[in-house]
Order: sequence, then structure tokens, then C-alpha cells
Amino acid sequence: MVWDDLPMNDLLPRPLSAVSTGPGSLALSPGDTISGPAGLVEAVRRALAALDLRPAASGTVQVEADASLGAEAYRLEVSAEGVRIAAADRSGAFYAGQTLRQLLPDAAFRSVPAGGSVPLVRVEDAPRFSWRGVHLDVARHFLPKREVLRMIDLMAAHKLNRLHLHLVDDQGWRFESRAYPRLHEVASHRPQTITTYYKEEPAYDGVPHGGYYTLDDLAEIAAYGRARAVTIVPEIDVPGHASAVLAAYPEFDARATGGRTPEPFPVLERWGISPAILSPLPPTVGFLTVVIDELLGALGEAPYVHVGGDECVLDDWAASPEITAFQAELGLSSLPEVHAWFLRRLADVLAERGSRAVVWDEAFVSGMLRPDTIVMPWRGMDVARRAAGAGHDVVQTPIFPLYFDYAEASSAEEPVAIGDAITLADVAGFEPVPGAWTEEERGHVLGAQFQLWSERLPDGRAVDYRAWPRGCALAEVAWSGSADASFAVRLERHLRRLDALGVEYRPLDGPRPWQRGGTGWRRHRPGVVRVDEAMKHVEELALTADSTRPSL
Ligand code: ACM
Repeated sequence: MVWDDLPMNDLLPRPLSAVSTGPGSLALSPGDTISGPAGLVEAVRRALAALDLRPAASGTVQVEADASLGAEAYRLEVSAEGVRIAAADRSGAFYAGQTLRQLLPDAAFRSVPAGGSVPLVRVEDAPRFSWRGVHLDVARHFLPKREVLRMIDLMAAHKLNRLHLHLVDDQGWRFESRAYPRLHEVASHRPQTITTYYKEEPAYDGVPHGGYYTLDDLAEIAAYGRARAVTIVPEIDVPGHASAVLAAYPEFDARATGGRTPEPFPVLERWGISPAILSPLPPTVGFLTVVIDELLGALGEAPYVHVGGDECVLDDWAASPEITAFQAELGLSSLPEVHAWFLRRLADVLAERGSRAVVWDEAFVSGMLRPDTIVMPWRGMDVARRAAGAGHDVVQTPIFPLYFDYAEASSAEEPVAIGDAITLADVAGFEPVPGAWTEEERGHVLGAQFQLWSERLPDGRAVDYRAWPRGCALAEVAWSGSADASFAVRLERHLRRLDALGVEYRPLDGPRPWQRGGTGWRRHRPGVVRVDEAMKHVEELALTADSTRPSL
């Protein structure tokens, strides 16, 4: 492939191969025709909404099923006569449509009909990784449904395919439960939110914050995603991070075992690790099974469900005679084993319903997972390698460089962030499969995912700023395997598409005046939390078999 010679060298992510087939071009206009198998045609039309393609017996765009192509793969040929697309599945056809959209002028990324001329090319393409994820924390700050649907659109434009929704945390429970309505009535909002930073005198904004998705909203989000090759991965984070759940249903509090009635936890108004933890006893598993059934019922197919397992403070388990007796009854020798047993129980519940469990790496460290459980090793590549070596599939999610709530620069101009810095180049240089890993370990890497924890991301505008263009780099790494030397050039041109889409990304040379931190609540504290220090700290914790963490 002679990439630089091609007229369409701004494709992003980079395809497997792309060859110019002639000097001319093909003009495409809104209302042009499309033909082929209905499901594949529908996928191409969806990706190319700007062309408003009309199904016909023999179209300008001809789509064919080719079973010899792999999952999500496609072939796209533009000649002077028309466009030919081949794919084995709808995702592949959808991605062929997305590539054709990138070959059109940038107006194809606006929301009104637009055509234009397309260079004559032959593209063959397939993803390097099957899991190309985005994690949205809608618990710390709720994002309205429209923002979630928009994120799905942006993911689709970058050939990203897993949207991990962190639906539950200490600061809010974010979906309706008809069986346990206090979850959305009580646990979905808090009276105010902390505005200060670590070690500062705490101050609060006095502004109520909340929101939740109805089961109908979740059904809509899942269907919207499926139509755009995006699978929703919902997360119910248990047994820790439980303040909001326990504010609604204190009977599942570890401190409430043995008939005790402790002072209920409030929905948390500040950040950090809370001691609130669910009891691991059978009634909690029963409660979560009912809620999981409601969630799965709403989503329809849910091949993956995340059950958390991170940052658990086990002190209240240690203090409960009933939990100690339960541990003895199960023949388990430590509380981390009870933690693992509890998550395994939920993974079994999910398996009975056809879903695979996903967990953060603490659940792996404390042992006993089902072999088919997917591990997200947020505490670094060492724990990732151990999980892969133990036979678990892993999705790479290390803080560095995939926690996008860290600022892109250690600068007072940046808006407030959890810490700094993770640059675009850091993401572009990320290798999901380190060369030193054995063949078998390498085979367990499903892909990579960037995380948007939202303590410091109050709304969709802040999410745009943190997600892009670093998300473009992650898309390139996860689809193409790595970012090559042409990435920087292609990205500059790709940003014009994001402009057309109305994305408020972080410009390459820093924030626009109104994106800066200022002097109010959005003030950034450069250097207060350095990502290398945070990473070192959690990597050290991951070396021990102890999943407990001190509370902040
Ligand atoms: C995490 O950052 N607690 C997964």
C-alpha cells in the first residue's frame, strides 16, 4: 500500500489496505439508489444517512453478502460506474458505509442531505480487535439519554463497538426498577455535589443532581446501538461503591446483617472510596438477580454484563458475625475469597441467562472467577498479563493511558480534571498486546477501551472535550492495531469531520478560551495528582491478593 499517494489518505481509523484504482472520481447525490440483501442494505443506509440512499433493484451502491469475509470485515470498491460493497455481516456493511462517508466531503457528517465526489479506490478492511470500547460513567454525573445516543453515533463514526455504561456508584443509581422502585426514586439523586479538590477544605455547590434511564430508555439505547454495531455493556458495580443502593435499601447493608439497623448511608455527595458495601449473603444475590432480570429484559440481548468488584472496603464484612459464619459455611479461608465467591455467584446468574460477566481486576486478584469471566485490568499491564496467563479474556483498560478523565496537559488552562497528564501521543502509542507476552497470553486480549469517569465531567460538553481527539487515537489503535506515522496528518483532517458533527473536542494546541478552567469551580490544579504516581500506587495494590483499599 502506498498510503501517502492516495487521494483518501485521511481515513481514520486506518484500513487494512486501500489502493487508488484510477484518477477519476464518482459523484454521489442524496437519493441515489442502493441494492442487495435487505439487512446489509439497511446497515449501509444507516451509516450513510447524508446520502439518503433509496433501495432499488439495481443500485448505484451494490451490496453483496460474502461469507468468506470475517466478522465486521468489508470490501469497498468505488469505480466510475458505482460502489460495490461486500460484507459477511451487518457490522461489516455498516463499516463499509462509514468508510464511504469519510471518502465523501465533510458535509456528509452534517445532519442534512449532502453528496459529493468520491475517489476511485479499493479498500479491504477488518478490525484488529473485537472489543473497541468506550466507558461512560453516568453514575457520578448523569448524562441524559440524548448524550448517550450521540456518543453511540460518534462511536459508530470511529468504528468503536462496545459502550460500557457505568450505571451504579456511590453517587447515584441510574436506571428504573419496577421491583425495587426506591432505586430510581431515592438512589438516583443527591442534594448537592462537592466542588473542592483533594485536601482542600470541602465546599459543596448546593445544586441537586440526578437522573435515571427508564427501562424503556434502556431498550431504546440498546436498539439504537445495535443498529449502529454498538453493543451496550451495562455495569452494576457491586459489592462496593454501594452508598446509593444502601440509601434506598439499607436492608442489604453488610452492617444490617443479624437484624441490626444501622444509620443508612446517604447517596454520596463527594468522591473517593466509601466503606459502604453490600452484604454477600443470599438475600443480596436474590435482590440483584431480580434487578439483573429487569436490566436484561430491557436491553434484550446483553452478551456482556459488568458486575464491578473494584475498590471494596471489606471492614463491615469482617465486623459481621453472620458474614463470618457464612464464610465458614462456604469453607472459604478469607474475605477476599468471599468477594470472589459473590462475584462468581453473579456470573453464574448471568451465565444462566446467556450473558458473560465482566469485572474490574480486583475480582481476578481475589481469585475463583468463572473461567469465561472477562477481566478489565485498570491497575496496569502486569495484572492484565496475570489475568490473561490464568486464562481470562481481558479488555485493556489501564489508567495510563486510557483514563480520559486525566487532563491532556498539566496546565492551568485546562478545565478541572482528576489529574494529569495523558496526551494524545500517549494514547496513540498504546500497545494493547505487549511484545513480551506469550502467544497464549496475547490470544486473550479482546481489545481496549477508554474510560470517562465523571467526577470532574459534569456534562456532555465536558465529555466531548475529554473524549476527542484522544478517542480517535484509541479507535485507530483498537481497529488498526497501532497508530502509524500518518496518524497525525489524518487526524488533522478528520477533525474537520468532528467540526461538521458539532463535537466540542480539545483542539490540538489546547483549549479554546471558553473551554479553559478559569478561576471558579472549573479551575484545574495542575500536578496535584500525577498519573504516573496514581498508576504506581494502584499497581502496587494489584501485586497483593488483598482487594481492600483504605477509604479516602
Ligand atoms: C476503577 O477505576 N475503580 C475501576
